[in-house]
Amino acid sequence: MTDKSANAMWGGRFAAGPDAIMEAINASIGFDQRMASQDIAGSRAHAAMLGATGIVDTKDVDAIREGLLTVLSEIEAGDFAFSTALEDIHMNVEARLKEVIGEPAGRLHTGRSRNDQVATDFKLWVRDQLDAADGALVSLIGALLEQAEAGAAWVMPGFTHLQTAQPVTWGHHMMAYVEMFGRDLSRVRDARTRMNESPLGAAALAGTSFPIDRHMTAEALGFDRPAANSLDAVSDRDFALEFLNVASICAMHLSRFAEELVIWSSAQFRFVTLSDRFSTGSSIMPQKKNPDAAELIRAKVGRIFGANTALMMVMKGLPLAYSKDMQEDKEQVFDAADNWMLALAAMDGMVRDMTANRAHLAAAAGSGFSTATDLADWLVRVLGLPFRDAHHITGSLVALAEQQGCDLPDLTLDQMKSAHDGITDSVFDVLGVENSVASRTSYGGTAPDQVRTQIARWKDLLS
Ligand code: ARG
Repeated sequence: MTDKSANAMWGGRFAAGPDAIMEAINASIGFDQRMASQDIAGSRAHAAMLGATGIVDTKDVDAIREGLLTVLSEIEAGDFAFSTALEDIHMNVEARLKEVIGEPAGRLHTGRSRNDQVATDFKLWVRDQLDAADGALVSLIGALLEQAEAGAAWVMPGFTHLQTAQPVTWGHHMMAYVEMFGRDLSRVRDARTRMNESPLGAAALAGTSFPIDRHMTAEALGFDRPAANSLDAVSDRDFALEFLNVASICAMHLSRFAEELVIWSSAQFRFVTLSDRFSTGSSIMPQKKNPDAAELIRAKVGRIFGANTALMMVMKGLPLAYSKDMQEDKEQVFDAADNWMLALAAMDGMVRDMTANRAHLAAAAGSGFSTATDLADWLVRVLGLPFRDAHHITGSLVALAEQQGCDLPDLTLDQMKSAHDGITDSVFDVLGVENSVASRTSYGGTAPDQVRTQIARWKDLLS
């Protein structure tokens, strides 16, 4: 005789219900209730197919499909009592369906298992997140393009090793992030295309003897096709891992940009002013305006990449097909998705609101002997010197300027000639930062015209 406390869904061969600790470690309803709408969409598609193939009477199918909508509206209204004893979202929904429509509810689970069901629900959830990330990235790229367009010709220092290297333009710097987020966007789209195969109907692991139509359910749920191997379909979590990979790389890009904003908004740099809307104050130091949003974006990559690592570890040793370990996939992905979306939105807002301080950018662009390379190039181009010699002569002029406490354009022609007597007045033309950036017209270079070409290309790509 079955104990009354045994599970109503699978308790047939059990004499007793689970220990409280067993229930606590086993249940996923605390988090997988986030997949309620995906679960109900999957069940409605499955039920319709059971009707169309004649596996279940259409009268019962109609009752099931209608009843599932009732359950959905209860969940959406917050009127649903989730039960830990019912383990997960799948059994919570099915048990409630039974209460709502009675006996026909028991026919819904024909020709499927929770293994293909959870894979389907989770895929639908991840797919929605990829679509949301797509929109967020397009918006962020749009914000960067606006900044780039406004400042296509504004000069600023370019750095290597965070030491002044050569002048670049604000637009060029913004467009570097457009390239990064553009690659993220293409990874999002690529991952979505690859993941879009339906696990539904793979059943527990081997398929089913019922004459189901997996093409029909795949199509109803917006999948491109049914997954071709039932063992793989129920045990594959590549789609979740790819989501976390893509999110990790994008979060790394967000973090790098956030770090620049933290540096740039400091009193020492003053390259940008962040808006009040995306800054906070200090409770003790009245003068402070802190770039907290940027700092938190910088930190998010930690937990997102942590989720990626965690799920890789969960999956790496699992034999085919489903193992309960895989229930540990969802919290990692949910947390990473929430924080990725938040970081993208915060960066979007910060970029739209921030003001580049042109005067500070320009002043900094000219300091630190940033046009030394232009001087060396001039020696090569005009005097025909080998680049190595030109590099050496320029180095000695930098040392001279440093000694004099001035910048390269402030040296006199006589001082220039002391390093090489072929130097003429026209050298001063290349020492100005505006001329320096304008001269870098190679494809993908920082010249304003090149920047504008790239802005136009991206606008075209996104339209
Ligand atoms: N809650 C489970 C999960 O998230 C659903 C699948 C359970 N399947 C099973 N055979 N116990 O993975």
